[in-house]
Amino acid sequence: MSQHASAFASQPGVVFRRDKVFKFLLPGILDRLDTSGTTILYLEGVNVAFDGFKAINDLNFYVNKGELRCLIGANGAGKTTMMDIITGKTRPDSGIVLYGKNLDLVDETESDIALAGIGRKFQKPTVFEHLNVFENLELAMADNKSFWWTLRHKLTSEQHDRISQTADLIGLPDQLSQLAGSLSHGQKQWLEIGMLLMQDPLLLLIDEPVAGMTYQEMEKTGELLQSLAGNHTVIVVEHDMEFVRSIANRVTVLHQGSVLAEGSMDDIQNNQDVRKVYLGE
Ligand SMILES: Nc1ncnc2c1ncn2[C@@H]1O[C@H](COP(=O)(O)OP(=O)(O)OP(=O)(O)O)[C@@H](O)[C@H]1O
Ligand SMILES: [Mg+2]
Repeated sequence: MSQHASAFASQPGVVFRRDKVFKFLLPGILDRLDTSGTTILYLEGVNVAFDGFKAINDLNFYVNKGELRCLIGANGAGKTTMMDIITGKTRPDSGIVLYGKNLDLVDETESDIALAGIGRKFQKPTVFEHLNVFENLELAMADNKSFWWTLRHKLTSEQHDRISQTADLIGLPDQLSQLAGSLSHGQKQWLEIGMLLMQDPLLLLIDEPVAGMTYQEMEKTGELLQSLAGNHTVIVVEHDMEFVRSIANRVTVLHQGSVLAEGSMDDIQNNQDVRKVYLGE
């Protein structure tokens, strides 16, 4: 027996053949996740290059559990790439991406990362337009179960309540039987946030939620995101500075793939490095 294999042999439940550990026999991602600490996300020394261009450059970024963090930065600063790294869509060239105390997301698949409670909302809403609001939320609750499973099984009263509560939270209690395709742009965005919530995410990554919204819709979105913080950790990427100011507690400025500044909105506006980069001072 090799040294490597014998090290594993002493651990109960781990099955190996020669030097190979069967990954599917290792504990599932939820069993390995430990969110008992205060930090939920811990990126350190992360680098990603695309054809030699450093999109993420020695990035260090930490988020506490329950925070609502706003992420700002010019076009191409690396905001979306950072979200791609957290969700496993892009593999960094180096660095660690800890979720909870000890789970390095660099080693995990996209589907396992989603299963472990990281939900992502892209800029364009992707609701099922030909289904109504209730059905959209119902399908989202099915998580790993198939579409057909959902259609064939009756909802329990708790599941019904959960859908109603989520509809209340996202401001669509009167639209449950309305087709998603007939909702306004803002309402579709809220429905998609509701669909993410049906999967009980710990960490929500939301890319440019208010682009194309009316002022009233923006205000309601701000209230919604603020109400989610605490129970969830929320990272919001947004270009609209008025919106960021209205919801922000802590803001991170990304510039050329690294953190340029971090703090309250006032701290950011008075930060010399930020002023140099954005105002040429
Ligand atoms: N798959 C890819 N292949 C090559 N280059 C990429 C890829 N993804 C991102 N980039 C480049 O990496 C840089 C960072 O892009 P990213 O999309 O992360 O920026 P961003 O901060 O989200 O910008 P925006 O505010 O415009 O959405 C850009 O220069 C972009 O062109
Ligand atoms: Mg982007």
